[in-house]
Amino acid sequence: MDLSKRIDRAMSAAIARAQGPEGDAPARLAAALNYAVTPGGARIRPTICLSVALACGDDRPRLADAAATALELIHCASLVHDDLPAFDDADFRRGKPTIHLAYSEPLAVLAGDSLIIAAFDTLARVAPDDALRALRLVALLAHHTGMPHGICAGQGWESEARVDLRAYHRSKTAALFVAATQMGALAAGHEPEPWEELGARIGEAFQVADDLRDALYDEGALGKPAGQDAAHARPSAVDELGVQGAIKRLQDILSGAIASIPSCPGEAQLAQLVRLYAERMTPVAPVRV
Ligand code: IPE
Ligand code: IPE
Ligand code: MG
Ligand code: MG
Repeated sequence: MDLSKRIDRAMSAAIARAQGPEGDAPARLAAALNYAVTPGGARIRPTICLSVALACGDDRPRLADAAATALELIHCASLVHDDLPAFDDADFRRGKPTIHLAYSEPLAVLAGDSLIIAAFDTLARVAPDDALRALRLVALLAHHTGMPHGICAGQGWESEARVDLRAYHRSKTAALFVAATQMGALAAGHEPEPWEELGARIGEAFQVADDLRDALYDEGALGKPAGQDAAHARPSAVDELGVQGAIKRLQDILSGAIASIPSCPGEAQLAQLVRLYAERMTPVAPVRV
C-alpha cells in the first residue's frame, strides 16, 4: 500500500473513533474534527515517519501507523489553535475558511484539544502490539509537543520580548520533525537518538522554506494568508537574513541532512527521498515581492 493511502486510512479511523457513533457526541464538534484534518495538507510529518519506519524494517506496521497518525493529529491541532484570533487570527487554511470562522471559536479550541487527546489515545491503543515501544512513543510525542521543548514552547516564544530565532524554530516547527524521524525509528524497534539530527535538519529547513514562501508567495499560491511574519512582526529567517541569505541557509541545512541519515537497511532509499523533499522545499519563482 502506498504511504498516502496508509496515512489516510489510519487518520480516518482515528477521527471516526474520536467522533464516536452518530448521536453519541456533540454533532458540530464531531464535524469540526473532520474539518480540521480533511482535506489534509502535505502530510509531510507522517510521510517522513513511515519512510523512516520502512527504512528501519517496519516490523510492527500498526505501531508505525499509530505514530504517523498521532503526529499528524497533533500537527492539525497546532494549526487550528495557531489560526485562532488569540494567535495569528488567520481566515484561511488549506484553501478554506479556518475552523473558528466555519464553526466558532469555542469549537475551534475544543477541536484542537480533542485532536491532541486523540493523538495520545491512538498510541495507547497499539500497546497490545508492543507495550514498551508504545509507551516510549507516548513519551517521545509528549516531549516534542509540550513544554519545555515542544510546540507549546515554540508558540510561547512569540510572547517573549527577546527571541532566539533558532530556539523558536527548533521548538515551534523542528520538534515535530524530530518526533517524525525518532518515532518512525522507534516504532520499528530502532533506538530514536541517532535519528535526532536528520529530523532537526529537515525541520529547520522546512521552517526557513515556510518563511520564504510566506514572504514571496501570495495567498492563492499558499492556501493561507501570506506576509504573516512581517504583519505580526514575527521573527523569521527572511527578516533576519534577507531572501538570498535565507535561501543559502536552507541549502546549507539540507546538504547536511543526507549525510546525517543513520545506518539502517533502507538507508539509500531514504537518502533519495530526502533529496526529493529538499528539491520540493526550495521556493521557485516568487509571485509576490
Ligand atoms: C505549516 O505546516 C505550519 C508550519 C509548521 C510552518 P505544513 O506546511 O506542513 O502544513 P500542511 O499540513 O501541509 O497544511
Ligand atoms: C504554525 O506556525 C503553527 C505551528 C508550527 C505550531 P506559523 O504560524 O508560523 O505557520 P502558518 O503560516 O500559520 O502555517
Ligand atoms: Mg503562528
Ligand atoms: Mg500561523
